[in-house]
Amino acid sequence: MDDQEYDLISQQILKLTGIDLAHYKVQQMRRRLTGLSSANAPSVAEYCQLIKKDPDALSKLRDFLTINVSEFFRDAEQFEILRTEVFPELLKNRPRLNVWSAGCSHGGEPYSVAMMLEELAPGQNHRVLATDLDDAVIAKARNGGPYTSADVNNVDGKLLLKYFDKPDNMYTLTDQMRKKVTFKKQNLLRDVFETGFDLIMCRNVVIYFNDEAKDRLYRGFQNSLRDRGVLFIGATESLLAAAELGLTRVNNCFYRKSSKESAGARPARAAKV
Ligand SMILES: C[S@@+](CC[C@H](N)C(=O)[O-])C[C@H]1O[C@@H](n2cnc3c(N)ncnc32)[C@H](O)[C@@H]1O
Repeated sequence: MDDQEYDLISQQILKLTGIDLAHYKVQQMRRRLTGLSSANAPSVAEYCQLIKKDPDALSKLRDFLTINVSEFFRDAEQFEILRTEVFPELLKNRPRLNVWSAGCSHGGEPYSVAMMLEELAPGQNHRVLATDLDDAVIAKARNGGPYTSADVNNVDGKLLLKYFDKPDNMYTLTDQMRKKVTFKKQNLLRDVFETGFDLIMCRNVVIYFNDEAKDRLYRGFQNSLRDRGVLFIGATESLLAAAELGLTRVNNCFYRKSSKESAGARPARAAKV
């Protein structure tokens, strides 16, 4: 795909999906789109016509761009740190937590957190906000499923019995659990963020974002956290200039917003939450 074709398809994608490829790594995106376009049409121009006319082709393109693979308690080790270290520390200061799952896909991530909070500090009316760009995954998440046995593979047996209905071979969240998460459509690269969160999770979302977009995003998250709130990123991701962003690495995938007094100070070593 040459530059002109890349511009053409980028404009069409922006118009049809609201996804602005200017925030994505160009080489990787160009390679991926070349493969997708040539598998579906003889030329990029014809592929652009196809996605304009055919809703199925457009939906496949959106899935391809957003990659909404997810599961409950994905990266179980990190969730264990959340359960045993991060949440207990946050709950010491505030009994009712405000959590945001950014790029929540079909809901496995925010529901995992809602279940965990209900077990750790029941009946506190914690708030779990979950956002994603993709209407289809949000609709499934709001509906509480249905999820496959692979999706719920990491869910503890006790939680599975307590929070899911299993009418057939699929798993659907109970009405009570569904009500604990609020889902909202949001584009992380364009829309305004709420503030006042104790925990923000943004995991496996930024993989194709370019450095500028990632930097802006993490600055936005830092601004949206309460003082000493925690950012939880993906197991394969890292935040290189965390201190410059006003964040301190506390454990594996967890970064804490530096308190106002110490913001900007580079920590000598990783601190405990
Ligand atoms: C691979 S899934 C990750 C889901 C979950 N966080 C996890 O780790 O299992 C990535 C999700 O990010 C969403 N996403 C990608 N770009 C986005 C953007 N600009 N704004 C909001 N959501 C986005 C996709 O729609 C997709 O559902």
